[in-house]
Amino acid sequence: MKRHLAVIENRGKRRRKESSSRVTEGWTGVNERTFIAVKPDGVQRKLVGEIIRRFERKGFKLVAMKFLQASEEQLKEHYWELRERPFYKGLVKYMSSGPIVVMAWQGLDVVKTSRKMLGETNPADSLPGTIRGDYGVEVGRNVIHGSDSVESARREISLWFKEHELVCWEESSEHWIYV
Ligand code: RTP
Ligand code: MG
Repeated sequence: MKRHLAVIENRGKRRRKESSSRVTEGWTGVNERTFIAVKPDGVQRKLVGEIIRRFERKGFKLVAMKFLQASEEQLKEHYWELRERPFYKGLVKYMSSGPIVVMAWQGLDVVKTSRKMLGETNPADSLPGTIRGDYGVEVGRNVIHGSDSVESARREISLWFKEHELVCWEESSEHWIYV
């Protein structure tokens, strides 16, 4: 009981410390969330299970997931910040070329850690052990997407999920993942 209370108190401290940014309010500490998508090549190459396995085993918590064929409009909005880049048109075409799996994952530092798990944008620059390093060859077929900041995660999750699709649930292993 004493240990349990200490755990709650520590989490409270962590949340208070990190709640200075108004933009990310409520999405800090163990409640931070990121948006992950298995791209069409990842789905075709049967990597969905492997990718989910890596995030589960890491200790992150799945809070939403959908399998869908995205429209070009949705993808243009998703990659809006890259609209001036020469690869933008091809990127939207690639991402709409087949079904994708969209997910929201939750946990401490999940945005930064997920980017490490993904590897570099170009699989050729990604270390073995990362998803792109293990399963990709070319930048135009790099298997997976992950939000690059907490702000992007918030925008992307609200683009792909409705509020009620984000599931709040108690993870039985939480006390074995967090101090
Ligand atoms: P993502 O958003 O998909 O997680 O990838 P990222 O942050 O690592 O890279 P970003 O700069 O956001 O680029 C988005 C996606 O565009 C494709 N890309 N192609 N041909 C090229 O030079 C090129 N550069 C980027 C990749 O699919 C990249 O993931
Ligand atoms: Mg990006």
